Amino acid sequence: MPWYNDFEAICRLDVPLAQLTSFRLGGPARFLMSPRSHAELADVLRRCQENNVDWRILGRGANILADDAGFDGAVIRLTDPFFSNIEIRRSADLTCLLAGGGADLGATVRAAVRSGLEGLEGLAGIPATIGGALRMNAGGQFGQIGSVVSRVLVMHMDGRIQWMDKIRAGFRYRSSSLADCIVLAGEFALAEEDPKVLLDRYRQVWIYKRQHQPVAARSAGCVFKNPEGRSAGQMVDQADCKGLKVGGAVVSTVHANFIVAEPGCTAADVRQLIGNVTRRVFERFGICLETEVEIWRYQRASQVDLQRCSCA
Ligand code: EPU
Repeated sequence: MPWYNDFEAICRLDVPLAQLTSFRLGGPARFLMSPRSHAELADVLRRCQENNVDWRILGRGANILADDAGFDGAVIRLTDPFFSNIEIRRSADLTCLLAGGGADLGATVRAAVRSGLEGLEGLAGIPATIGGALRMNAGGQFGQIGSVVSRVLVMHMDGRIQWMDKIRAGFRYRSSSLADCIVLAGEFALAEEDPKVLLDRYRQVWIYKRQHQPVAARSAGCVFKNPEGRSAGQMVDQADCKGLKVGGAVVSTVHANFIVAEPGCTAADVRQLIGNVTRRVFERFGICLETEVEIWRYQRASQVDLQRCSCA
């Protein structure tokens, strides 16, 4: 009997990751699972562990470089409406917004803005689910999600469910301590503000993004993390990498920290270009850039430490 027996209703086989990632790159995920409840998610996790099936959680796929060969395991997505609820709770002394781990970050930001709740509007234009955004502590110069969330509901690998306060969630620059668990929901305590004021700020963030980033292109946002006190985009630019190309992968001429996938591009092209850019920046500045984009390899066993290879 296959390990996914009983999960037929929520499992699809050999689904191209190119359909599920913003780079639109990547071969098939062997199993694509969409659990419909906490209990079903816990069952999937348990069955994967019992059967030695590697698994990953995928949100909007906006920060992922999948392998051309795909992923030899289970890709779990919290796309069922059970996981994507957005709810506003108002009481005499507190207003909070509760969003499921699978909820769209953009929809959550818009719900807050419309309802006159301040704090999330700086996250306009970031393509993510709430789960992915919290795990990565998504953000930019207009704020990061870890600063506005009050607590996070998580499922541990053994299926236990727990609320974690923001201290325990360990938010750092583009990272958190949520990597070893699955984000089920986030709770945001937000102050009341005039929706018109919030809408104006929301629009300003969007205008900035459209002016400075290739928002319509196939990409995974910023490829590299900013080293402390430096701008990765500026360093890549000063190392003359804008327009640098490998196959169909090109360093954006709009913002140097973006790699854009042109027709015919493969994940291998992007990986090679990341390596080339990393080397050039290292030669120029003596700094080894770290990728912000998560690189998925076909099998865990064949994972390569790209960073170490690139600057060596
Ligand atoms: N710059 C250049 N050349 C470029 C790009 C940027 O010289 O090609 C310079 C800019 O002129 C500026 C500095 O570098 O002086 C910083 O650039 P920017 O303001 O665009 O900010 P960033 O640090 O590159 C960060 C986030 C973005 C987020 C923006 C805006 C990181 C790695 N990136 O970019 O997030 O959208 O701020 O809030 O933290 C992402 O995480 O995927 C992402 C795009």
